[in-house]
Amino acid sequence: MRVKCALPLNTIKPLQGNVLAVYKLDDRRSTVWLEEYQSVTQVIKRFESLPLKQRFLAMLQIHPGQCEKRAHAKIKAMGLPVAVIQEMGWQHGKCYLTTPYIGPSLDIAIAKGDFELPVAKHKLARQLGKLTADLFKEQLFFRDLKISNILLSPEGELILIDAGSIRRVWQRSLPGCASRIFRLLNETAYRAFGTSPVCYVLSRTDRLRYATALLANLPDAISPAISASLGLTRK
Ligand SMILES: Nc1ncnc2c1ncn2[C@@H]1O[C@H](COP(=O)(O)OP(=O)(O)OP(=O)(O)O)[C@@H](O)[C@H]1O
Ligand SMILES: [Mg+2]
Repeated sequence: MRVKCALPLNTIKPLQGNVLAVYKLDDRRSTVWLEEYQSVTQVIKRFESLPLKQRFLAMLQIHPGQCEKRAHAKIKAMGLPVAVIQEMGWQHGKCYLTTPYIGPSLDIAIAKGDFELPVAKHKLARQLGKLTADLFKEQLFFRDLKISNILLSPEGELILIDAGSIRRVWQRSLPGCASRIFRLLNETAYRAFGTSPVCYVLSRTDRLRYATALLANLPDAISPAISASLGLTRK
């Protein structure tokens, strides 16, 4: 169950401070909440699978929390915009990760109406295109690049989270990756805009803006194949 700011705050036992918001409650997968302690706000993501299973995976160094922490450190070192995982710890036998609170994820920001103005929506489409290109330039494929895994910083920058699944891929695989990412971003943005105050529908020009920014930021050698895979070339 995904809970968007519906705040069943007392169902969460904080690490050490007060729970300010609950972003996700899923008994089998993960619980994510915002906590404040001594005026520092951080987001805690706790993995909810059985403690015994979690210990076993951690022993093998393949716990999803460990994978996420490693992947974030690696892509941060490449200069890509990703949240820094500050701490990995254990609560009631379950692994948790902490990140500083950065800003709302795009699904929340869209649902709040932050992108109602066409100019804001156009800027977002271009930023998403550039972000995808920045990953592709490093031959990185983030198969879970959905709207809820991208945060909007106070400076208006897009920051990745939940990037444990990022993988380096062959250059020849990038067109296939591009169409998967395009579909996922499109579907999740479409859903989020449907819940926004004005119930925007994403238009073909929004998608073209994304594709144009993506192609403009890619080396000439790969952009034609990626353009073809998106099926959006301007006529
Ligand atoms: N550092 C952060 N700052 C602000 N909000 C955050 C932060 N980290 C997580 N969130 C919020 O919590 C939500 C869930 O976080 P995250 O994606 O890491 O969990 P998840 O269990 O992998 O979720 P899902 O499986 O739905 O992708 C995000 O969509 C975002 O709204
Ligand atoms: Mg996520």
